[in-house]
Amino acid sequence: MEHERQQLEQSLMAGLSRQETKAWLHQYAQPFKELMSCYRCAAMEVETKFNVLNEELSLQYDRNPIETIKTRIKTMESIIDKLNRKGLAITLENIENNLFDVAGVRVICSFPSDIYMLEEALLNQDDVRLIRRKDYISNPKENGYRSLHLIVEVPIFLHRQKRLMKVEVQFRTISMDWWASLEHKIRYKKNVEITHQVAAGLFECAEESARLDRKMEEIYSAVVCREEGCGE
Ligand code: GTP
Ligand code: MG
Repeated sequence: MEHERQQLEQSLMAGLSRQETKAWLHQYAQPFKELMSCYRCAAMEVETKFNVLNEELSLQYDRNPIETIKTRIKTMESIIDKLNRKGLAITLENIENNLFDVAGVRVICSFPSDIYMLEEALLNQDDVRLIRRKDYISNPKENGYRSLHLIVEVPIFLHRQKRLMKVEVQFRTISMDWWASLEHKIRYKKNVEITHQVAAGLFECAEESARLDRKMEEIYSAVVCREEGCGE
């Protein structure tokens, strides 16, 4: 009951009338829960794939390329918001066919090169299909944002069926993640205008943190080289 009341409030906030919301809930509440549960399973599948890779690579390289993994499922409120923005009716088909970030997995890596290594390892798996790729590391966004975004499709195996689900994977280094979360906090601060000066400051921080990422990677490579006797 409590859950339904929250859903009702959320969709009212998202611009549906009380009548429309009730009709929607009546028709879709159970199938919606089932779909969200499938997205949760898909996020778990992808998270497990990264945990397996981290385990294997930590033996091979004597360090973990993954610092942390965060998963999240989009809330009903932001699903409705996004469908509204796209001018689409709020149906389960529209969610599955048009929203590719309902399930999200964020992989925070130690070094920039770990990102591409993990991407390759993920995409080489024969049950993972790449749907879309945006490399904001090679081509940072105008505001300085860096991250590698993939939309992948993975199967989940339920007791009577196999379903293919889309998951958004974002790869970042610790410093890319640090920048993105602070930038997000600043950008969405209520009643605060993002002036030219603020945007320039944020951009400068992004460039500086990318420089530090490169420097750390160089230092690390040199240390590994010394340890393994490269070029001797
Ligand atoms: P969305 O409708 O936002 O999902 O955009 P999109 O489908 O074009 O996806 P894109 O791959 O460009 O970005 C999706 C996600 O990346 C966002 O939901 C954020 O999590 C993150 N992101 C993208 N740009 C920025 C940015 O400038 N700052 C921060 N902090 N995060 C960003
Ligand atoms: Mg998104």
